[in-house]
Amino acid sequence: MNLKEYLAARIERVERALERWVPPETMAPETIHRAMRYSLFAGGKRIRPVLCIGAAEALGRTPEGIEDAACTLEMIHTYSLIHDDLPALDNDELRRGRPTNHVVFGEAMAILAGDSLLTLAFEVLGKLPHASDGTKAKLVIELATASGTAGGMIGGQVHDMEGEGRPPTAELLEAIHRAKTGALLRGSVRMGAIYAGASPEQLQALSDFGTHVGLAFQIVDDILDVEESSETLGKTAGKDQAQRKITFPAVYGLTRSKIMAESERLAALEALTPFGPGADPLRALADYVVKRKA
Ligand code: IPE
Ligand code: IPE
Ligand code: MG
Ligand code: MG
Ligand code: MG
Repeated sequence: MNLKEYLAARIERVERALERWVPPETMAPETIHRAMRYSLFAGGKRIRPVLCIGAAEALGRTPEGIEDAACTLEMIHTYSLIHDDLPALDNDELRRGRPTNHVVFGEAMAILAGDSLLTLAFEVLGKLPHASDGTKAKLVIELATASGTAGGMIGGQVHDMEGEGRPPTAELLEAIHRAKTGALLRGSVRMGAIYAGASPEQLQALSDFGTHVGLAFQIVDDILDVEESSETLGKTAGKDQAQRKITFPAVYGLTRSKIMAESERLAALEALTPFGPGADPLRALADYVVKRKA
C-alpha cells in the first residue's frame, strides 16, 4: 500500500467535509469565521481524522459519511492548538508554518475561534446525516471524554502547565502524555470503530492500538522539538526545554525516548493482530507516526 496516496485520498475527503461544515468567511460575523478557517486550513497533517477513517476501514467497511464524523476531530484538535499557543499557555508565535491565531487576530478573537471550533464539533456530531441517533450519542460521549478533564486533553494540558519547572518524574510524564495527546488519538480510532459498528472485541483491540499510537505520537513530538528546526516543524523548535516542560527527552534522554517510541509502535502493531489486510493503512500510520520529521 502506498501511504502517500492513501493519505491524500482520505485527507481530501476530510477537507471537503470541513469546507462544508465551517461557515464561509463571508458569513457574519466575518472575523470569527476568518479566524476559524485561518487555523483550520493551514496545512495540518490531519492524522486524527485519517486514523478515524482507517479504523473503520480496518473493519472492512467505509461507512457513508464517516468523513463528517472524522472532521470533528480536526475541529477539536485545531481548537486545542489555538488555545495551546495563547500567551497564557505556551505563548507561541508560529504554528503550521504561519503566525499563530492570536498574533493575527488578537487574543480575544483567538479564544473565541477556539471556542467556536469546539462548539461546532458537537453541532456536527448531532447533525451527522448518515448515523443513527444511538451512534451519534456514542460519538458525542467519545469526543467529549477524549477532550475533557478526567484523563482527556484538557486534563493533560493542566498537568502540562502545572508541571512546568517541576522535577520531571516518570509518573507525571506518563499522566501528561496519555491525556493531553494520547486521549484524542485513541478517541479518533475509537470514533471510527464506533461509526463502523465495531463489536466490543474489535473496539477493545482498536482502543489498544490507539493508546500505543497516541503515546508514540507525543514521544515523537517531544523528540522533534529537540531535534528539528522551526522551519521543518512549522512551529517554534526548542520550546519545551526553554519552558522547562516535562517531556520524554527531559526524563529519559533522546536515545531512550526513541527506543520507547519504537516499542510503542510495535505494541500498536501487536494490537492489530486480529485484523487482516484491511488494517494495513493503520499499520502504515503507526510507522508514519514514529518516522515522521514534522
Ligand atoms: C501537534 O499535533 C500538537 C500535539 C498534540 C502534539 P500535530 O503534530 O498533529 O499537528 P498538526 O495538526 O499536524 O499541525
Ligand atoms: C499540545 O502539546 C497538546 C495539545 C493538547 C494542543 P504541545 O504543547 O507539545 O504541542 P506543540 O508542540 O505546541 O504542537
Ligand atoms: Mg503545550
Ligand atoms: Mg505547545
Ligand atoms: Mg510539543
